[in-house]
Amino acid sequence: MAGLEAAPRLQWRRSLDMDALAEAGVDQELAEKVAPDRDIAVKVGDNIVEVQNLTIKFGGLVALDNISFNIKRGEILGLIGPNGAGKTTCFNAMTGVYKPTSGQVVLEGQVLNGIKQHRITRLGLSRTFQNIRLFGEMTALENVVVGLDARHRTSVGGALLRLPTHIREEKSAIERGMALLDFVGIGSHAHVLSRQLPYGYQRRLEIARALATDPKVLCLDEPAAGFNPAEKRN
Ligand SMILES: Nc1ncnc2c1ncn2[C@@H]1O[C@H](COP(=O)(O)OP(=O)(O)OP(=O)(O)O)[C@@H](O)[C@H]1O
Ligand SMILES: [Mg+2]
Repeated sequence: MAGLEAAPRLQWRRSLDMDALAEAGVDQELAEKVAPDRDIAVKVGDNIVEVQNLTIKFGGLVALDNISFNIKRGEILGLIGPNGAGKTTCFNAMTGVYKPTSGQVVLEGQVLNGIKQHRITRLGLSRTFQNIRLFGEMTALENVVVGLDARHRTSVGGALLRLPTHIREEKSAIERGMALLDFVGIGSHAHVLSRQLPYGYQRRLEIARALATDPKVLCLDEPAAGFNPAEKRN
């Protein structure tokens, strides 16, 4: 359309990295606690996410212009592009923060358009934010337990009455929360307020909280933003 401005180009880089966990020396038992078995509707190597002709316009600015790509189950995919290319907008459209101007996002065959953010998280598409969004006055463990709550079944009444299901869920949330903090390497800081954590630990905590929702697909928006090269390698 005349008068619309095009954003710089977005690119995707693919790498199939099935052995990454083993290579990173992650303990098998810990990995199982962190990512328990669950049903995923597609096989390894099949498309789990399909982004189809996605366009997002902000007034006169075309932030995403007819973008299409697939993410296969088991694949690690990098989204690269200069500042303003539309990376965050793409994650926002995938996770229900922005409504597509046209096109659609499909997760395991289900069209996500119009589904609210928290429902998309429950369906298995989770993300972190470029600008850290933690609950500063809560401890690291409490922040992770909030993520685990996305899958819990207890009602408010059940929690107030401390029904057995609620107590069981609370206990398993603390165990799994601790495992997630160990997995991202900050288990020793479980009881520190998140605002008091060093910046790099806050980034790790965001990843642990996103993993707590038991995602089938995890989108990390600039997880190494603000790190120097040595910190990025860690
Ligand atoms: N809510 C919004 N309202 C208006 N314009 C927006 C909005 N969000 C993003 N944009 C614009 O859309 C374009 C893409 O921005 P986006 O933040 O997605 O880029 P990015 O690739 O994530 O950049 P960076 O590397 O700086 O994080 C930019 O021109 C930005 O100014
Ligand atoms: Mg961005």
